[in-house]
Amino acid sequence: MLNLSRVTLTYPDGENGTLTALDSVDLSVPAGQMLALVGPSGSGKSSLLAVAGALITPTAGTVHVGRTEITGASRAERARLRLEHIGVVFQQPQLMPSLTALEQLQLVGVLRGSRPRTLRDAAREALAAVGMSAAAARRPHQLSGGQRQRVNIARALMGTPSVLLVDEPTSALDHQRSGEVMDLLRDLTRSRSMATVVVTHDLEFVPVADRVVTLRDGRLAEHATV
Ligand SMILES: Nc1ncnc2c1ncn2[C@@H]1O[C@H](COP(=O)(O)OP(=O)(O)OP(=O)(O)O)[C@@H](O)[C@H]1O
Ligand SMILES: [Mg+2]
Repeated sequence: MLNLSRVTLTYPDGENGTLTALDSVDLSVPAGQMLALVGPSGSGKSSLLAVAGALITPTAGTVHVGRTEITGASRAERARLRLEHIGVVFQQPQLMPSLTALEQLQLVGVLRGSRPRTLRDAAREALAAVGMSAAAARRPHQLSGGQRQRVNIARALMGTPSVLLVDEPTSALDHQRSGEVMDLLRDLTRSRSMATVVVTHDLEFVPVADRVVTLRDGRLAEHATV
């Protein structure tokens, strides 16, 4: 479960000014729900993900991941929370050029201090979950854009997160691959009982989500139906 309560985020802007990126946002995403987050450029979508992912501490308000209140957590606690409970998928797959798909995933486990053996099994399982078992030994340049995005998603699953945050996963993909990635995200959300937030510009794929909210100038509005 992910919960944001009265979250406000301001950035310094110019000499003495501030820019309000998030304005008293209330949002609750239960386990097993995929939420689509839409809104114009600059409306605060990536900022919301950064706050939900414990990457930025908001100016005001609270964020809960499960029972843990992340805004009050120490730096070290937040780092551990990110490794163990939160999966983040950025727009551009940030994969290491020299590592195979399997190794990209294992690297995350090394950061968490897992044993190599457990790690290999977990990495194979995550690749299987995104339909990429056959490509385990390939490096990024040997993968298509859609396949790279799948590896990127698999890597985010390595900590078996309860919260999955995905920023514009389909912007570099063609129509068919985009639909496949959105379907995959929804299936993973259900099968792994994650609270998932997917930022998307692609209104066509919004119906794949269970629910849709819009951000406009940092303010959140709920839609009655998808
Ligand atoms: N680190 C920062 N410092 C100052 N201002 C920032 C920073 N990051 C974002 N902003 C500003 O905050 C507002 C929200 O930005 P954000 O990146 O969250 O928007 P977005 O909805 O993700 O946009 P896009 O669809 O273009 O990715 C924008 O006005 C942006 O310029
Ligand atoms: Mg953005």
